[in-house]
Amino acid sequence: MTQDELKKAAALAALDYIEDGSIVGVGTGSTVNHFIDGLASVRARIRGAVSSSEASSKRLAALGIPVFDLNDIDRIPVYVDGADEIDGSFAMIKGGGGALTREKIVAAVSERFICICDASKRVPTLGHFPLPVEVIPMARSHVTRELARLGGEPRLRAGFVTDNGNLILDVHGLTISDPVDTETRINQIVGVVTNGLFARRGADLLLLAGKAGVERIP
Ligand code: 5RP
Repeated sequence: MTQDELKKAAALAALDYIEDGSIVGVGTGSTVNHFIDGLASVRARIRGAVSSSEASSKRLAALGIPVFDLNDIDRIPVYVDGADEIDGSFAMIKGGGGALTREKIVAAVSERFICICDASKRVPTLGHFPLPVEVIPMARSHVTRELARLGGEPRLRAGFVTDNGNLILDVHGLTISDPVDTETRINQIVGVVTNGLFARRGADLLLLAGKAGVERIP
């Protein structure tokens, strides 16, 4: 199976966890795109979705799935999203697609985070994938210096502006032995909007697609 076929298998497995009549939290990325396509086939069973990006909102709307403003919703039983890396404690690096801030907001409101991944995303220690950090533009140089002091090598994502009008610094070379601590420290830097470590609120269930099928962990 190709990596994209594995992503699709993980994404379609997530449909088993959708509550009838509910609002579904929807992440961003190529794995989630398969989930959105699958969600269209069961759209009569749900009220609609809350989306984590303009790209996902557009895809949902094109498939006839109502997209709600998060501020009008008080309950999201399930949030489905991919990851760039996920470790054994279900802490993740996310934000390869630059949607980390809205992803973290929707995840924070959701009761259950279901992570959908192909097997290549499972790692023993986070940090090989550069950690995305969303930054207010005027703070770019300050945040770059502070991230370097933490031992990373921040690189500006060229030509990219987030849905919130901000910049992304991709931090290479960080040793993330304590993801909760690193997430907390980076969030303390003035000018940082969010960082792509999802450790304080990690995933609750991992649907991991490999050669032998989709593993549902735990
Ligand atoms: C977007 C994300 C994605 O979940 C992450 O980048 C994985 O993407 P893909 O499913 O395309 O491999 O965090 O901001």
